[in-house]
Amino acid sequence: MRIDVLTIFPDLIEHYAGSAMVGRARAAGVLDLRVHDLRSLAPGPHRSVDDSPFGGGAGMVLSPGPIVATVDAVQPCRPIFLLSPAGRRVGQQVVEELAGLGPQAGEGFSLLCGRYEGVDQRIADHVVDGELSIGDLVLAGGELAALVVVEAVARLLPGALGNEGSAADESFTEGLLEYPQYTRPAVFQGWAVPSVLLSGDHGRVARWRRAMALRRTMERRPDLIAARGGLSAEEQTLVDEILAAEAAEAAEAANREEGLRAAPTGAAEPPAGVPAAGARRGQRPSPG
Ligand SMILES: C[S@@+](CC[C@H](N)C(=O)[O-])C[C@H]1O[C@@H](n2cnc3c(N)ncnc32)[C@H](O)[C@@H]1O
Repeated sequence: MRIDVLTIFPDLIEHYAGSAMVGRARAAGVLDLRVHDLRSLAPGPHRSVDDSPFGGGAGMVLSPGPIVATVDAVQPCRPIFLLSPAGRRVGQQVVEELAGLGPQAGEGFSLLCGRYEGVDQRIADHVVDGELSIGDLVLAGGELAALVVVEAVARLLPGALGNEGSAADESFTEGLLEYPQYTRPAVFQGWAVPSVLLSGDHGRVARWRRAMALRRTMERRPDLIAARGGLSAEEQTLVDEILAAEAAEAAEAANREEGLRAAPTGAAEPPAGVPAAGARRGQRPSPG
């Protein structure tokens, strides 16, 4: 896929996009990222790209001339999107749409980065094909926003990630947040990973992950659950199951602690390396 980025700070883009996942995608030929300096065709000895706003006011505005000259000269991939707080909000669905713009080599899209107080409105009205925002916040320029888009799109391109499953099994891909992830050691500073993950039972692990993704999304992003029309009967059962398992485990832990308190001192010490249940923080019990 080809992505053109038009900016007055090409080094910012090149620096980030030369390393890590985006750099690897470029090196592998999966991503053809072309960065164009809006100053290179700007007029005058100072290659000025901005001017003060008509009607007065603070700051400067990017002039239309250098932008149109660059678009004419480099013929960036269409559609061209202006990064702007007033644009369409970028979420995973927009990212997937953008990734779908370049199934063939040479196909893709372009990103135009604003700076200062923004870009002359005639660029938005007559030159670009749309506007994208990365959220209700104001950056100093479009470069970081462009990199957000480039990285999110690049990791969806076939061959960009080492593990092809990584992009398919992630937050938002199914309208849900992802389940919690753990790695070694199984017990760290007394915090144990959920025992189901050590069971080796792939079916149970898959059910637990699904239940956790549903529960986490219900707790943190009920809007996402509402957008998919609530939970199906099967999903509700799964969530009920995990809540029941948690309640059972909490009751068991409470009984254990009660037993420890009642037992003579030293009689109920946990085995070496295994902390008492009350010492474990942040553990997510398994649904069974
Ligand atoms: C300081 S901002 C201009 C803000 C503008 N005066 C306003 O109030 O909407 C300069 C540039 O940063 C980029 N930018 C800032 N916030 C952004 C966002 N949330 N999403 C995308 N681009 C953004 C745009 O390219 C914008 O032209």
